[in-house]
Amino acid sequence: MRRLLAVGILFLVACGPAVPDGASGQEIYEISCSRCHGDDLVGTRLAPGLGLESEFVDKDDAYATQTITRGRGSMPSFERALSEEEIQRVLGFIRDQQ
Ligand code: HEC
Repeated sequence: MRRLLAVGILFLVACGPAVPDGASGQEIYEISCSRCHGDDLVGTRLAPGLGLESEFVDKDDAYATQTITRGRGSMPSFERALSEEEIQRVLGFIRDQQ
């Protein structure tokens, strides 16, 4: 039983918490992105900001989709964790904040 618990915890740490079906862009951001990109998209020492003051404002959606899907530098790939629709939803949330 203990072992099962340990494996479960390891799995959660490795994959991050799962996004519930039908989560809004904001919920997906809070679950999957904010630990690196920060609350309010301001960035942390782990990752650049994505808000109005960031360089990301000038980059297009194709670049953003590619980055989120495939990863870039130390940004992890979300190809397995999120569906294409969820990626568009979280991107929509980020654009709405800018
Ligand atoms: C483990 C930390 C981490 C997590 C979690 C993370 N990112 Fe990133 N992200 C990064 C880093 C680091 C970069 C900068 C990569 C580079 O350019 O080298 C980045 C870059 C980006 C960029 C491009 C920014 C630019 O100006 O080029 C976007 C868009 C982005 N992330 C969106 C997201 C979204 C959406 C999520 C959640 C689904 C997310 N990230 C989760 C670390 C993370």
